[in-house]
Amino acid sequence: MNIKNVLKLLLLPLLLPLFSLPPAIYHAYAGRAGADEGMWLPLLLQNNQEEMQKLGLKLTSEQIYSINNSSLKDAIVSFGGFCTASIISKDGLVLTNHHCGYEVIQNHSSVENDYLTDGFWATSRAEEKPNPGLTVTFLVRIEDVTEKILSELNDDMDPAERDEKIYMLSNSIAAEATEGTHYHARVSEMFAGNEYYLFVKETFRDVRLVGAPPESIGKFGGDTDNWMWPRHTGDFSLFRVYTGPDGKPAEYSEKNIPLKPQHYLPVSIKGIDPGSFAMILGFPGSTQRYKTSYGIRLLMEQSNPTRIKIRGEILKIMRNDMDESDEIRLKYSSQFARVSNYHKYFIGQDKGFIRMNTVSVKESEENNFQKWADENQERKAKYGQVLSDIKNSYDNLKGYNMARDYLNELLFSAAGVLKMPYLFSDLYKALIKNKGDLQAVKPNLTRAKAQTEKHFKDYHLPTDKKIFTKVLRMYYEDMPPALNLGIFNLIEKKYKNDFSRFADVVFSKSMLTSAEKVNNFFEKPSLKLLNKDLGFQTMQSILLSYRNVILPNSQKDRDKLREAQRQYIAGLREMYADKNFYPDANFTMRLTYGKVIKYDPKDAVHYDYATTIEGIIEKRDPYDPEFFVPDKLLELYNEKDYGNYANNGTLNICFITDNDITGGNSGSPVINGDGELIGIAFDNNWEGMTGDLAYDPNMKRCINVDIRYVLFLIDKFAGAGYLVEEMTVVE
Ligand code: ARG
Repeated sequence: MNIKNVLKLLLLPLLLPLFSLPPAIYHAYAGRAGADEGMWLPLLLQNNQEEMQKLGLKLTSEQIYSINNSSLKDAIVSFGGFCTASIISKDGLVLTNHHCGYEVIQNHSSVENDYLTDGFWATSRAEEKPNPGLTVTFLVRIEDVTEKILSELNDDMDPAERDEKIYMLSNSIAAEATEGTHYHARVSEMFAGNEYYLFVKETFRDVRLVGAPPESIGKFGGDTDNWMWPRHTGDFSLFRVYTGPDGKPAEYSEKNIPLKPQHYLPVSIKGIDPGSFAMILGFPGSTQRYKTSYGIRLLMEQSNPTRIKIRGEILKIMRNDMDESDEIRLKYSSQFARVSNYHKYFIGQDKGFIRMNTVSVKESEENNFQKWADENQERKAKYGQVLSDIKNSYDNLKGYNMARDYLNELLFSAAGVLKMPYLFSDLYKALIKNKGDLQAVKPNLTRAKAQTEKHFKDYHLPTDKKIFTKVLRMYYEDMPPALNLGIFNLIEKKYKNDFSRFADVVFSKSMLTSAEKVNNFFEKPSLKLLNKDLGFQTMQSILLSYRNVILPNSQKDRDKLREAQRQYIAGLREMYADKNFYPDANFTMRLTYGKVIKYDPKDAVHYDYATTIEGIIEKRDPYDPEFFVPDKLLELYNEKDYGNYANNGTLNICFITDNDITGGNSGSPVINGDGELIGIAFDNNWEGMTGDLAYDPNMKRCINVDIRYVLFLIDKFAGAGYLVEEMTVVE
């Protein structure tokens, strides 16, 4: 199994940037999904149209998603594959979150030109900054291909055979759909493999940075306010898509021209009221709403504590070093934000599970399912075993699960030297396959070079060494001996378990700790050098234990779990035949609709639906970098200079809706009943943190920046009114 397949099994969604009620109120599956819950496929909106219109939508489902005419979906893009953005001008202006543009802004920053701290505004198109590797992707069309796939499958196939068949069919359907075009396509499974849909897409590769507010606005409240309401963050940044002179996707070139979109969103500054209709189109990454109590238990008992612990340690080390110098801060800001974001998420999720009694709610739903399944012989044969299969698989997988969580964290949170062998993995395999023939491995070499260059741009050896030492020792202490790694034999014997001494040697000898040494290696790449490298050996031994021990030993149970989960969802849909079910998020385009609405988070506390600039002033703390307020903003506040964007003498900052979003939705446009942009979604709230697995309609809220605050910042704060002029503003 190659590394790509290994990684597919990992929790990639966690890379993204992206809720105490008695069980009687919150249900697992029973009942109808309310207006708030649900991430709907745009293709199937006819089923929701009536309800949407009742809530205040003035458009038809055809005006939202159409393959014949331009429709709202033509103004929505996947931003870099990890966030969402919208097109807001006829010249391809793109609006997303500040935290989605964060890494790009960091990349353009230096101690001299610190755009993270000071913000950045291109005063002309020529000043807009290219970002090699950054893409935006439009959805061209969706097609239900369930029949095409399922009709070729049968119950005699074993899981590997079945997967292979689905893979082949999906590829040929995608190839056929894009033949003779520059589009690309992919078939995505829905409902755990009960349905399949084709998504045809168009990707643009010249995406330039246009503007971003200073971090003190774009990330106001920092990690303290993250995942929390009430919020006062101006979480937005602006980009522009460029095309070749023919209007088609092209690599960056001075000759490129701004994209002429099929549709762009008009911007409404009419404002919002409680109950105002709101919908969001975007690319939610991952939810597991049909996960069972057994899965939730594993999360609570093993995965979450493991991730929280590892991330907590990594964050402490990074924070300390980042506070030491601006140079280190600018190297680690983005990684820190990413690791810290889900560190807090896992903490909130655990608390939410406890408050919501998620395990018992799911258990009682499972009891209902079992009773239903046992009602007649036919059902019993089909669904009677499903839950016990799920339980048994989880019981067996428990022994391997922590290793998987660790590998994820080592590669993506610790990163540094530990991630390098992963970046080299292609090259390494090519070297083996081609017996060191340098000509043959050239393409792999080019890729490894590019990734390595990026890697070292943000590398600080002393920080990495501390992280390496800490997490490796934690791995050694936490993992059951059966999963022990080759490298630990060496550390035990040669270094007497002194991890610091081991790290001293790795960091002085391994080429993976220095850009210069790696570049020398690239001049004359050899397998022998790699195999001898202690840094490479360390991570290789972790990857090999995963590939050679953990994966093969857990394969049967993973297959069984997947199959049982598919049956469970099929059964639930049969059991609640009147309910309009929606598939879990999987990075495909979805629409969620609902309204602007407040909530009551706990006894005696009421949260309003919107915040104002007064709240920024209340939170302001010149001694705490998370709560700095820039002078210019204070000035505008003192003069009440809010221009057209004012609301009754103040300025609205953020608002909440009951839209159903998750990681990947970050940057999604919030759209009113007339199809106009009223805000940008950027977060979920603390009391709704279990939402990805267990949805509580009374508690889960979607946090959005008010578009009037965004326009005010562009126009009044940044003096970039020329950008507002390019938009269609509806008053
Ligand atoms: N919680 C937000 C999301 O997942 C990210 C906010 C980024 N800010 C931060 N302080 N890390 O989309």
